[in-house]
Amino acid sequence: MDLTDKHEVVCFCNYVTVGDIWRAIDQKGLKSTEDVRAETHAAGVCGSCFSQVCTVTADYLASEKQNPSS
Ligand code: FES
Repeated sequence: MDLTDKHEVVCFCNYVTVGDIWRAIDQKGLKSTEDVRAETHAAGVCGSCFSQVCTVTADYLASEKQNPSS
């Protein structure tokens, strides 16, 4: 799984892609995996994708901090 590809599906239960998580973080100002889960429903069913959701969220938040664009 390529967690830097926006088309990659992270959560199969709710069909949430990497890009969906990035967009939710940008549009809603999310700060944590829990925020992402509440907003996108990723990792909200079987939970098997939780570590990937954490990784995508943490990596994106870290990259935003290094390159503040807004
Ligand atoms: S694959 Fe994400 S909750 Fe099941």
